[in-house]
Amino acid sequence: MKEKIKSLMEKGFLLDPEVAETLDENTYNLIDRHLNSDENVVLTKSVIEELKQKYSSLQELNITLVEENFGDVKIIKNYEDIPKKVEVLDFVEHYKIRYNVLKKILQNRSELADVVSINRLFNKPERERVSVIGLVLSKEITKNNHIILELEDVTSSIKVLISNNNKNVYDKAKEIVLDEVIGITGSVGNKIIFANDVFFPDIILNGNNIKKSEFEDYVVFISDIHVGSKLFLEEEFLKFIKWLNGEFGNAEQKQVAKSVKYLIIVGDIVDGVGVYPGQDEELTIKELSEQYEKLSEYLKKIRNDIKIVMCPGNHDAIRLSEPQPVFDKCLAKSIWELPNVILVTNPAVINIGSYENFSGFNILLYHGYSFDYYIDKMDSIRNNGGYDRADLVMKFLLQKRHLAPSHTSSLFIVDPNRDHLIIDEIPDIFASGHLHKSSVSQYGKTTTICGSCWQATTKFQEKVGHHPEPCRVPYLNLKNREVKILKFME
Ligand SMILES: [Fe+2]
Ligand SMILES: [Fe+2]
Repeated sequence: MKEKIKSLMEKGFLLDPEVAETLDENTYNLIDRHLNSDENVVLTKSVIEELKQKYSSLQELNITLVEENFGDVKIIKNYEDIPKKVEVLDFVEHYKIRYNVLKKILQNRSELADVVSINRLFNKPERERVSVIGLVLSKEITKNNHIILELEDVTSSIKVLISNNNKNVYDKAKEIVLDEVIGITGSVGNKIIFANDVFFPDIILNGNNIKKSEFEDYVVFISDIHVGSKLFLEEEFLKFIKWLNGEFGNAEQKQVAKSVKYLIIVGDIVDGVGVYPGQDEELTIKELSEQYEKLSEYLKKIRNDIKIVMCPGNHDAIRLSEPQPVFDKCLAKSIWELPNVILVTNPAVINIGSYENFSGFNILLYHGYSFDYYIDKMDSIRNNGGYDRADLVMKFLLQKRHLAPSHTSSLFIVDPNRDHLIIDEIPDIFASGHLHKSSVSQYGKTTTICGSCWQATTKFQEKVGHHPEPCRVPYLNLKNREVKILKFME
């Protein structure tokens, strides 16, 4: 224990002799993990008692084991590029994979347990009740305001009529988008199905059991820093960094900051160069590598026990097509060199906060480039707040189990071996950005969190009527799964 006492003293703690005498491994770990030595804390018996009480659950566990994994970030899904010329057949294979994965998910529903392939429908007697699963090839509204779909599976395609007489089903059908995979139950007509229900793969069938950690650790979510832009809010961003370091905010906020273990940054890290016509005029830093250099200067200021996980967005120095690879090693060299930064693709899935007998939390990171399309196209999103409601878009995509179901909603790489944008595993947390306005919600067992931004409102955003809310920081308590938002700008 002498070494541990020495280590605490070197860290700046002042030890009461009684505490030094009785110090054990568990107490040492508690102090080391949860107290900040910069504040000249005198470790008296009562300080230790308070600490033990607060983190009593730690005592029940073997801390040494926990510590080995704690703070660990595991990358569950990170996409590797296979550069290759895309051929027509690749498209076919890509959609076949999407169909098969989502079909499996849909078949977990009892209503869809006995699906038949579409080519077998043509031999069925009229009015027979059937269920099918297909990819939506087209969607039209008839003169009488019914919805007609064309649904395709690997065998054939068929029309599906969704009558507006059944409001419930009709409302569900309004949410159908092109190229997504859905289930239909209904009765057979002449080369048509008269639908009596519509099913999306969705996540809610899998229950609402929200995972919680034994430890009160925090995850902080930001996005859209836009370093390099004239409108980058440097002063506020520096305040945010000060908060993370325990140097800003009230006592409660400082206490939270101490327990922040992870910082998730979901894209548009820099403003980029040549992202839109005339962007040059809007930049203070006109070189991409210098934008990343500047960003790394900020990140270096963050206390280095915080693990920073970053994925790119549509402004970053990377191709626009999704999945976007990790940041370019040359252009973002300064970021690659930071020891506590973990770079992932967009989208990606990571796991945090695991310890013995607890599998931790899976976080799906997706910047949100496809969000614009669904806000524009879906009445249910547009008429209920649109750009102010990232939560609605994120819920919509969780229901589709796909980050960009419609072909034209994002640019994507056609991979004949997989569809990278499928949400096959249900995440505990779905983190995004892009809309420059923070939004937090819970859908099923998934917490949806959209970061805000660190860029003042652009002329373009003003013109199109968006209402960005910069400098808001959602932070998640892994112990009770509550999310709160800190404002660094009024
Ligand atoms: Fe952005
Ligand atoms: Fe963006």
